[in-house]
Amino acid sequence: LLAAGIAHELRNPLAIVMNALYDLRQILDGQNPEAAEDLRIAEEEIERAQAIIKNLLEFSRESGAELERLDVNDLLSRTLQLMQKHLQNNGVRVTTELGPIPPCLANVNAMRQIFLNLITNAVQAMPEGGELMLRTALVGENRIRLDVRDTGVGIPREHLQDIFNPFYTTKAPGQGTGLGLSVVHSILQRYQGEIQVTSEVGAGTTFTIELPCQCHVEAD
Ligand SMILES: Nc1ncnc2c1ncn2[C@@H]1O[C@H](COP(=O)(O)OP(=O)(O)OP(=O)(O)O)[C@@H](O)[C@H]1O
Ligand SMILES: [Mg+2]
Repeated sequence: LLAAGIAHELRNPLAIVMNALYDLRQILDGQNPEAAEDLRIAEEEIERAQAIIKNLLEFSRESGAELERLDVNDLLSRTLQLMQKHLQNNGVRVTTELGPIPPCLANVNAMRQIFLNLITNAVQAMPEGGELMLRTALVGENRIRLDVRDTGVGIPREHLQDIFNPFYTTKAPGQGTGLGLSVVHSILQRYQGEIQVTSEVGAGTTFTIELPCQCHVEAD
């Protein structure tokens, strides 16, 4: 909670610095390449700090987030659409198998965050491109299951227990904060959901999440 407060307080000064950098770039108007490069680095690092703050806020958000009825398949499709260019540019082919599932009572932003984080990880695990498979299914009466499978680099067995820890990352400095999966994990905990991972180095990784849908199909 303290971390969330600090993260929140840091947002404004960072936004002001970002604006100042933007102004500086205008003033500079491409006249000094060396200064422009410094500006670019400064902007990138501010963006990184902003990403960390955003994740920290999401990570520690209280359960008061607004719940709504939501169609997980629909949200998945829309998320994929948003990322279409990004997926294409990275040579990632997508296949989906979206089964019939009932609506879920959940927070749309939190859900989108889960999908974005898992899909982003999958893309990053396939630097040479590959296949991303998304599957949804109903498990039992009212649990939704989502598989996110990639044909990427995989995760060595000895690292599997670390990947959900905050700040655990194998990515180059500036590339990852190591908060993505810990955010996913903490959101799922809030919904009494679960996440599991299976992986084979050099072959790919599958993340499986399960979450209860508290909406009755007939309720309207
Ligand atoms: N699909 C995947 N394939 C291979 N490794 C993965 C995959 N997803 C996660 N990992 C491993 O787990 C680590 C932690 O993932 P997490 O999403 O928490 O952080 P990150 O991706 O490194 O940084 P961030 O998500 O904050 O940008 C990654 O650095 C990577 O080593
Ligand atoms: Mg990540």
